[in-house]
Amino acid sequence: MARSNFGSKIGIILATAGSAVGLGNIWRFPTMAGENGGAAFIMLYVVFVFMLGIPGMLAEFVIGRRAHTNAPRAYRKFGGKTPFAGVGYAGVLGGMIIFGFYSVIAGWCLAYFFSSVSTGIHGSPDEIVKYFNDFSSDPWQPVFWAAVFMLITHFVIWGGVNKGIERCAKILMPLLFIVLVLIVIASLCVPNAEKGIEFLFMPDFSKINGETCLAALGQAFFTLSLGVACLATYASYYDKSVNLAKSAMQIGLVDTLIAVLAGLMIFPAAFSVGVQPDAGPSLIFITLPNVFQSAFSFVPGASYVIPIMFYGLLVLAALTSTVSMHEIGTAFFTEEFKMSRGKSAAIVTFLCFIVAILSSLSFGVLKEVTIHGMTFMDFFDYITGQLLMPICAFLTCLLVGWYMKKDDVFDELTNGGTVYTRMFHVIYFAIRYICPIGIAIIFLGLIAETVQAG
Ligand code: TRP
Repeated sequence: MARSNFGSKIGIILATAGSAVGLGNIWRFPTMAGENGGAAFIMLYVVFVFMLGIPGMLAEFVIGRRAHTNAPRAYRKFGGKTPFAGVGYAGVLGGMIIFGFYSVIAGWCLAYFFSSVSTGIHGSPDEIVKYFNDFSSDPWQPVFWAAVFMLITHFVIWGGVNKGIERCAKILMPLLFIVLVLIVIASLCVPNAEKGIEFLFMPDFSKINGETCLAALGQAFFTLSLGVACLATYASYYDKSVNLAKSAMQIGLVDTLIAVLAGLMIFPAAFSVGVQPDAGPSLIFITLPNVFQSAFSFVPGASYVIPIMFYGLLVLAALTSTVSMHEIGTAFFTEEFKMSRGKSAAIVTFLCFIVAILSSLSFGVLKEVTIHGMTFMDFFDYITGQLLMPICAFLTCLLVGWYMKKDDVFDELTNGGTVYTRMFHVIYFAIRYICPIGIAIIFLGLIAETVQAG
């Protein structure tokens, strides 16, 4: 059977950018920036995205497109009998775990979207806190919404590479951008907006320490979907004429732009109503409904429409990301076990739903159940974000930079010597040295942190 490819160049960029842009940009990035002091963190994050993230992406692209197959087979093909061959399997596993717990947060967004449409989320600040706590700890409701979200992802995947993923991204990505810009404009018009802008763009370098660096590095990886063979899987559908380096740069730029816009959407409004920027993950579900209520009260109807747009936007952003996590496993089962796409997708959705149930219940009835002191949600986030992703990205760079033949890497990155031939040396150097050394530093930092805490 002929393997499908993405149909157009713009489709490729949008699908991969859709994978990169997600809750990581709109929920995790403002939270991290808020907790780590704003502008200084953001500058570090941008440096890491371009210096370590882009070479890491390119290493995955090289493996994926050259092998033109699912991630485990691709890594087996180039890794031979070395441990590199295992990276693809780790990627499938990691992608599935991330899909499971990410769907829980995406499910919250979906639920908040529907509540915003029907009754609106309003009341005193205490009532809004209670609403969130009651909702997230309920044994049924969040599980239900996670399931709905996972089924939506499932059907997009079932639709296949062209009709499902690409069409979805082509429509959703521009829409997302428009809605985001609209909320940013509204947010910039609130009184005292300049305080939020200052927080985002005036760096206070005394805020930079080891922890801030680690946080910025971790965020750079998560946001680029790096380290679970997700990009390798997508690159396996790329046409041979795609300029990989240029695409990676474009995706990095779009992703960073969306994250900064998300910051501009949230912080001016938060400062305007006197909310602390380091309010943590609840910024989106507890603080923002308050912000929407008070900050936009001067425009008639805005406090009804803006939350609907906001949570709708989050759902869209999350969907183009979960599709990419799902595809890693689906491509694997379809090609390695010769199953239909529908059947493979069903296996992935089912297995991930178990992860989602455990993650969701860890906010309520399973709160007390811990692994090494972490709830299920924290544990899944930890083993993927802090272990699997850095290790796999590190190994991928070593595989491409040191184990694969240089001529093959050259051929793939320059499309047979036709594009970016002069840039090749810079990129190759970054893949061989800068990215793996950067990752090693994160890792040593994490170990040191754990030992100190411990
Ligand atoms: N990058 C996405 C975000 O910022 C999340 C994501 C999609 C992801 N695919 C991934 C994260 C694969 C890690 C691995 O929301």
